[in-house]
Amino acid sequence: MSNDPFLTALGRMGLLQPGESPAIAPLTGGVSSDIVRVDLESGPICIKRALPKLKVQADWHAPIERNQYEIEWMRTAAGIDAQAVPKVLGEDRETGMFAMEFLDGARYPVWKNQLRDGEISLDTARDVGKRIAAIHSRTAGRLDIADKFPTDHIFLPIRLEPYLCATAKKHPDCAARLESLVRVTGATKKALVHGDVSPKNILAGPNGPVFLDAECAWYGDPAFDLAFCLNHLLLKCMWRPQWQTRYLESFDTLATNYLAGVTWKARDDIEERTAHLLPGLFLGRIDGKSPVEYITTDTQRNAVRRVARALLLAPVNSLGGVRAAWQGELAKQQ
Ligand SMILES: Nc1ncnc2c1ncn2[C@@H]1O[C@H](COP(=O)(O)OP(=O)(O)O)[C@@H](O)[C@H]1O
Ligand SMILES: [Mg+2]
Repeated sequence: MSNDPFLTALGRMGLLQPGESPAIAPLTGGVSSDIVRVDLESGPICIKRALPKLKVQADWHAPIERNQYEIEWMRTAAGIDAQAVPKVLGEDRETGMFAMEFLDGARYPVWKNQLRDGEISLDTARDVGKRIAAIHSRTAGRLDIADKFPTDHIFLPIRLEPYLCATAKKHPDCAARLESLVRVTGATKKALVHGDVSPKNILAGPNGPVFLDAECAWYGDPAFDLAFCLNHLLLKCMWRPQWQTRYLESFDTLATNYLAGVTWKARDDIEERTAHLLPGLFLGRIDGKSPVEYITTDTQRNAVRRVARALLLAPVNSLGGVRAAWQGELAKQQ
């Protein structure tokens, strides 16, 4: 048996031909896992192994069993829209690894890179909204699916705590509001949540957006996914100010298409809860445990803080209201 843990796992997953010894090369871009490309005789595949400690932050730990929930999310999503995820090819629970289809960067560019480079397709924003809404709608109220994601013990410490609770400590006057967002979000059990719908985890493929990195999968509050993704579109306005209008159009397009795709019964409050959560996540990427890497000056940080804090202290109930507050601040900067 091979000493290479990836080869050993490939063997156990039944993905190696007898005597096959493929080349294995690390892929970059991950923060919580080792990801490698394996060139099998049958073609390239990808293996992901969860790490017990995230690379972003010294004290940010997460159990490697999250790998199994990532696979389960991928399988559930594939049953709803097979184009929305890479195909899972095998799993090795013992070592917290799974194998999936390799999606070539030339055909499947990372959405974050496109947004950075000014290639800002409203079709992508639309389809991200539609696909996330479909996954939420089709899993809403499904107790059988809820049973497969008993992941409060992962979601709370790696999503709500670092973004919202850590931020509350830096902004005592907003702490009550942030803690109430944590309570409401944590207690809402409505649909299957991806948990990390960020442009860096979305590939803009020829058949629409493909979602990667579902290791924060949780049966809970769908508003979290929508707010999390929209937050990135707000933040991008600081990264590449010349494309602010386009990012804000992407925000509107994504939100509108998401909301149009929401079909579950108790959906009336989804926009309101997203609008409430969004300023918390916005401030969280400045003063939480995982600050966004491309906002680098105090002037920029203070602009986010001003808008986020104002919206936490005097919440608005619509996503258009959140966007307008940010747009007003951006206009002042110019
Ligand atoms: N199936 C895949 N095909 C090609 N590249 C992939 C695939 N899965 C992940 N990657 C690449 O690896 C990077 C990290 O993967 P991801 O699942 O997001 O790991 P992490 O949890 O460490 O962030 C992605 O941004 C992407 O560039
Ligand atoms: Mg990732």
